[in-house]
This record gives sequence, C-alpha cells and structure tokens, in this order.
Amino acid sequence: MRAFLIHIFMRTKIKEILARPEADYKVNIKGWVRSFRNNQFIAVNDGSCMGNLQVVIELGTDENIVKKITNGASISVDGTVIASQGKGQRVEVKADSVTILGECDPEKFPLQLKNRPSLEYLREIAHLRFRTNTFGAVFRVRHTLAYAIHKFFNDRGFVYMHTPIVTASDAEGAGEMFRVTTLPFDNPPRTEDGSIDFKEDFFGRSTNLTVSGQLEAELGAMAFGEVYTFGPTFRAENSNTARHLAEFWMIEPEVAFNDIHDNMDLAEDFIRYVINYAMEHNREDLEFLAQRLADEEKQKPMNERSEMGLVEKLEFVLNNKFERITYTDAINILLDSPAYKKKKFQYDVKWGIDLQSEHERYLVEKHFKKPVIVTGYPKDIKAFYMRMNDDGKTVAAMDILAPGIGEIVGGSQREERLDMLTKRMDEMHISTEELYWYLDTRRFGTVPHAGFGLGFERLVLFVTGMTNIRDVIPFPRTPKNAEF
Ligand code: 4AD
Ligand code: MG
Repeated sequence: MRAFLIHIFMRTKIKEILARPEADYKVNIKGWVRSFRNNQFIAVNDGSCMGNLQVVIELGTDENIVKKITNGASISVDGTVIASQGKGQRVEVKADSVTILGECDPEKFPLQLKNRPSLEYLREIAHLRFRTNTFGAVFRVRHTLAYAIHKFFNDRGFVYMHTPIVTASDAEGAGEMFRVTTLPFDNPPRTEDGSIDFKEDFFGRSTNLTVSGQLEAELGAMAFGEVYTFGPTFRAENSNTARHLAEFWMIEPEVAFNDIHDNMDLAEDFIRYVINYAMEHNREDLEFLAQRLADEEKQKPMNERSEMGLVEKLEFVLNNKFERITYTDAINILLDSPAYKKKKFQYDVKWGIDLQSEHERYLVEKHFKKPVIVTGYPKDIKAFYMRMNDDGKTVAAMDILAPGIGEIVGGSQREERLDMLTKRMDEMHISTEELYWYLDTRRFGTVPHAGFGLGFERLVLFVTGMTNIRDVIPFPRTPKNAEF
C-alpha cells in the first residue's frame, strides 16, 4: 500500500531518472511538452536538467487527451521507466496514464521551438524564455554561481551582510542614482527659497536606490573582520550597451587587515572557485552553451572567431594566473600597440584617461590573452575612498578585466588614514558631515582594509559565453525598458 501511495503522489524529477542506472520501476513525472511525434513520443522537460525525458504512449490512447498534447502544455504521467527501444536516449517512460494539467494552444503560444527563435525575439517574451534549452542552461548556471559564491565566503568565515537598498549616500560619487520618494512630483512641497523640501519626504531627507553596499560593508568589516554583500544595485547611467544594466547584482567582500595584494589574491581565488564549481555541477549546461557558442562563431568571418571554445576558455582561467600590471604599464602597452599606431582606437590613449572598453579588450583579448588585473589608477578617475599611493598621483585601485567582457571586478585598498581621507573628500566636494558614520571607522580603531565588487551578471556572461547582459538576468532593466 505504501509503495503504491508513493508512486501515485511523489513526483520524480527527470534529472534523477536520467541519472539513475537501472530501469523497470514506476514513476510519476510532471513537466512541459517540448515535442510530440507520431502521436506516440512525447519529449517532456521539467526544468531539473537540460535533458528531456521521452514518454511513450500507446497508439489508440484517448483522442481527447492526444489532441491536447501540444508544445508547451503541462502534463502528468504515471508509468514505468524502461530501457529505451529507440536511439537517442538510454531510458524512456512507458505511460500507463497521461493527465493534461494545463493546455497550450499551439496557434497562440509565442514560443515555437522548431525554428530556433532568436535571442532578440526571446527577450521580448522573457516571461516564457526560461522554457528554452539556452535559457534553461543559463539560469541553472546563474543559480549555481550564486550558490557557489555564498559557499566560498561561508567556508572562509565571512559574514554575509545585508546592506540597505534605500540610501542617502552615493558610494561611488558618480551621481547616477534613482531617487526614492513619495512626494507628489506635480506639486512637491517647497522650502522658502523654492527648492523641494525633502524634510517632508518619507524618510525626512532625499534618498536613492543604492549603487553599492561598500560603505556599509566597511562598517561591518571593522567588527567581523571579513564580510560580504550580495544584493541588487541600481545605476541610472544611460549606457545602452551589452554590458550595462540599470539594475544588477553585485558581490562585495570587504576584509580588515588586507592590503591591495591580498585583495587581488582573494579576487582571483574567488573567481576560480566559482567557475570551477559551475564546471563541476553544471557540466551538461555548459557543454550545451559551448556548442551554442561554437555554432554562433561559425557564422562569423574567420578572423573574428575566438580561438578557444567556452569550456577551454574556462579551463584556461582555472589553470593560469591572471596577469598583474599597473595602469602606467597598460597605457604604455596601448601606446606601443599596432592598434594605436594604425589609429584603430576610437578614443585617444594617454596617461590619465579612463580606459575605454576597446582599450580593456585590447589588453585582455589581443595582448595578454587572459584575465588582467590593473592596479594604480590615477586618483582623478577613481572614487574618493581609494587609498592614496606614495606618489600622490595614483590610488591603490584594482580592476579585473576579462576576455569578452572588459571590467568584471572593481576594487581597492581603502584609505584608512582619517586626515588623507577627509582631504580627498574635500577636494572631491563630498560632505564629511553627511558621511560622519563612515569617517567614524577611521576615528575609532581604524585598520588597513580592502575589498572589491564583482558584477554578478558580468560573471554569468563570462561563464555562459552569452554576449548580451540582457540574456543572463531573468528580467533586465535597461534604459526605456522595465517590462515584466
Ligand atoms: O567598479 P564599480 O563601480 O565598483 C564599486 O561599486 C565598488 N563600490 C566595489 C567595491 O569596491 N566594493 O562596480 C563593480 C562591478 C564592476 O566591475 C562591474 O562588474 C559591475 O560592478 N558593474 C555593472 N554591471 C552591470 N551593469 C552596470 N551598469 C554595472 N556597473 C558596474
Ligand atoms: Mg569600476
């Protein structure tokens, strides 16, 4: 009786069935129809893995059910797992009964899998795109990476810190923030001089969505030693590129007593660990994505094709140290490059410029052909909190540049000296009064410390080999787009 109940009520995941060596046992499976051939063979996917399970129904099954077995319909099947008679799969399920859970009108279903829909089209139906092989793989890998990130830090004794999403400060000082307000914008309350009176606003002051959890993470590091954040961040930069989102997720570790070298070591270990974890746990997904990428590469002219496949690229990152150079080295390499001499760069190169993505990509893709960590940027192009180097011109910043992506990590050793920090804030017109709480860490038991921010979607781009950042977050927010 008990075994009978289990087989009626317990759903077995397709991943488990495909991985189990034996056959000849009863199961119930539930999932969505991916294809239906010859009125007999149903390919069912339940999202637990890339693979579909073949379900075989008897010819002569009730007409009313058969006609509802269409792409996208959801079904429940009771049956027996048997060694497959046909080619292409080891096992299949011989159905005892099929129940239609939810019908799907093939005429109206926007997802037609037969003629490989384009990524652009799938972006328009992002609410359904999880049901394709590509997005199934991408989002399973995204999940694994998120899990690996928590595991990496947890195993090393870091405290996971939730930093605020609504904030009054602009951590990066770039002024690219979304305002949070409940004031009526057709007729906001005004002060005597006519400006908007934020004292009347919900929080009694002007607030925004956070661009980074770093400043608060630093406060935590001054107590726990090692903390990290992993949360959503928001930037109102009008960059309509394949690498920018207005809402993205960032991981920000912050470690007391670390200097810039420890910081680089941590970032490298971290990136290798999470890539390795995905390679171990999502092999099938990554191999599918590698094949997808290889097919895409074949469409490109010979000289634009990448030399390595996705899996080789990831293995290469696991097995080779990142290159470490200074900003000054980077500028010299660029000035010496054939690309510069032949005027191939759109933006000029000289000491002091912010490296453009064409420069970053030249360094990693053409020159070093591997990830590169650049340190010692000019102080004028970096945030106020970075530690001043002895030359008084550069700061202890570090950016990690990855092939195909450009900047994937931005970080630094922090300025722990109160006098140096307040001087820099004054120079950059950042209010030391408003950030009194941040400065308190430098007043009370300050220590050298360092941290960085990894853009989660850029990591997912790198690991999945996808090329547009809109395809690695479930529902992208970009300029003029906040659908779903
Ligand atoms: O270099 P950023 O601006 O650094 C910070 O925010 C620091 N507070 C981090 C720290 O030291 N704790 O951003 C960090 C990373 C970038 O390297 C990039 O990977 C990603 O965040 N990023 C974006 N990803 C997607 N869309 C955007 N608009 C992004 N802006 C930054
Ligand atoms: Mg940066």
